[in-house]
Amino acid sequence: MFSLGHLSDLHATPVVVKNPLQLLNKRFFGWLSWQIRRQHYHRTSVVDALMDDLSQAPIDHLVVTGDLTNLALTSEFSAAREGLKRLGDARDVSIVPGNHDAYVRVAQSKSWSLWSDYFESDEADTAAEASDPRDRFPTLRIRGPLAVVGLCSALPTRLFDASGTLGDAQLDRLERMLHGLAERDLCRVISIHHPITVGATHTRRWLRDAEPLRSVIGRAGADLVVHGHNHRTLIAEIAGPNGAIPVVGVRSASDIGQREERRAQYHVYEIERNHGSDDPRFRIALRIRGYDRDSGRFCAEDERVLVG
Ligand SMILES: [Fe+2]
Repeated sequence: MFSLGHLSDLHATPVVVKNPLQLLNKRFFGWLSWQIRRQHYHRTSVVDALMDDLSQAPIDHLVVTGDLTNLALTSEFSAAREGLKRLGDARDVSIVPGNHDAYVRVAQSKSWSLWSDYFESDEADTAAEASDPRDRFPTLRIRGPLAVVGLCSALPTRLFDASGTLGDAQLDRLERMLHGLAERDLCRVISIHHPITVGATHTRRWLRDAEPLRSVIGRAGADLVVHGHNHRTLIAEIAGPNGAIPVVGVRSASDIGQREERRAQYHVYEIERNHGSDDPRFRIALRIRGYDRDSGRFCAEDERVLVG
């Protein structure tokens, strides 16, 4: 049995604007939204309870699907680095960026490069030296029976546009990677910030190339897809070459829960090999842990078998 944790959309970095010039772009509207609304939802007390719960959970590896920051301020990238260290060693935690981590264009040396050990592939190739960190995706980390594949859908967009894009080159690399992994006895878990199922979100927030991504997965196969971005639970399926593939979206892990359907949760997958010849290769069960406002702690909320 291997346990995989999944959390997303922490938005846990302090928004400290030392120089107003930092807001002379799309950030101004994000800052307004933070002042009026978002700072009241995403609370450090919930993050502290999350850290406490994770420290007691038997999790072998943790995936974080982006939106660590709010406005992609340079101070937020270094703060997020400290947050990642609280979550665990870079070997035990794998991340992909979200749209807020690419809110505006920021010099690589002051942004994602501070987190690079958390999305470093096991087997570095020439792409690892690429000047654009997006060229380092998909990332691949083998942990126990899992092949954890990370996709980057984050890139700067226009005002009021929270969409994501993978791009043809990343999709090509993904298809080759998934075909190669199919030769090995590994459970292929794809992590991405944006949802990938039809109608999962409004076009202002969607993954622009979700349809070609579903086609790639439909041809090459995967065992599980996990994402964030919507701050809501979403359990769905897409077509794979050998049957349906579960696609699971997790809520924000830091939301205090003024709206019940957004109250903080994180997911734990229990994955084990099936040995019967008629069974799917891997049994995948999902446990959901959620923040309880009364006790101020996370507790068990639901569990179900996704692939049996
Ligand atoms: Fe997002």
